[in-house]
Amino acid sequence: MHQPVITATGVFTPAETITNAELVEAFNAYAEKYNAKHAAAIAAGEVVAKDPSSEDFIFKASGIEQRYVLDKSGVLNPDIMHPLFRKRADDEPGVMAEMALDACTKALKEAGVDASEVDLVICAASNLERAYPAIGVEIQSLLGAGGFAFDMNVACSSATFGIQAASDMIRAGSARKALVVNPEICSAHLEWRDRDCHFIFGDVCTATLIERESDAKNPLFKIRSTRCATEFSNNIRNNNGFLRRTYTEDQDLPDERDMQFMQNGRKVFKEVVPMVSAHILAHMDDEGIAPDGLKRMWLHQANKSMNDFVGRKVLGRVPESDEQPNILQDYANTSSAGSIISFSQNSDGFSKGEIGVICSFGAGYSVGSVILERL
Ligand code: COA
Repeated sequence: MHQPVITATGVFTPAETITNAELVEAFNAYAEKYNAKHAAAIAAGEVVAKDPSSEDFIFKASGIEQRYVLDKSGVLNPDIMHPLFRKRADDEPGVMAEMALDACTKALKEAGVDASEVDLVICAASNLERAYPAIGVEIQSLLGAGGFAFDMNVACSSATFGIQAASDMIRAGSARKALVVNPEICSAHLEWRDRDCHFIFGDVCTATLIERESDAKNPLFKIRSTRCATEFSNNIRNNNGFLRRTYTEDQDLPDERDMQFMQNGRKVFKEVVPMVSAHILAHMDDEGIAPDGLKRMWLHQANKSMNDFVGRKVLGRVPESDEQPNILQDYANTSSAGSIISFSQNSDGFSKGEIGVICSFGAGYSVGSVILERL
């Protein structure tokens, strides 16, 4: 058996941001237009008027201050309210592959690894651009990596499930150097016309490089163990399947609210938080790690109060800010990439032997944890 280690991470951050103020201004302009257009039906009680959104609510409910997106022009246009992507020819790189190339190249450079040495690419994300050929295979080809590649989708837990798959393969010897890459285009699946959720998501891509300890030039963290769990729930659901309503020629599509991201947010909060804290505590217990033996938690970034709750349950006290760093004020919820952004930006300050846990959770329901030990 070989010991898997994380040697580097990389983050691709889109150039454009949408602040809460910009988002609310666009939503409220859309809602006003909608209400004016349907004034007679609203007065007759046949159509429900759209209530305005508010910056205060968004910050209080989620802790989010802004989000990065691939295209803000479509999202902020009250007549469009979704991102606009140029339709690409089949022989051009896809959007996800392009984001992934950037994140993977950063990780490879940090670790001093040539792309040709990589023999496994797992593209693990909650929103995939197409069914096949696998995005992972396209990324493998653009990088010039060898071996094999595939896609997987476990919604917000895709990154940790991908890390478990890659590290198990490294342990067993079927791969030597693996990239787990999470290109998340959440903006294309979000219903920007629904004030209950229009503030939640952003776009980003993260990459994690995992190698055999014996091969690694710069081993950072030993992957001590991983644990995944799932339990079926319809409380977070997306019926579209692949990216849709993203191209300019799709602008006239009818309102298909049931196809975009939907959630029963309160139920998610109530049901997922206990599942996650129990999962982390059981995983740590099996590894003989007491709460006071944990230096840091890099949690899935969906909602600040959710993370604060999980952090409190796991440590048995309110965590210090460096024990449970949040990035969602800047990035919003970036699905599976969130815990990896947090890890990538906050993995300094560890001494040899100190322990941290990456944990992502969400639709499925699903929860994945990765216990790391600094080398
Ligand atoms: N602006 C102003 N008011 C808003 C609003 C907005 N954008 N969106 C909702 N509201 C209103 C609601 O209509 C409701 O009004 P009411 O009390 O008159 O009925 C009130 O604010 C509270 O809404 P509610 O949805 O109950 O808020 P909440 O405090 O439960 O927070 C979530 C909502 C979604 C942020 C929260 O439930 C959550 O984080 N859940 C988990 C989400 C999650 O992690 N999902 C995983 C996705 S991968």
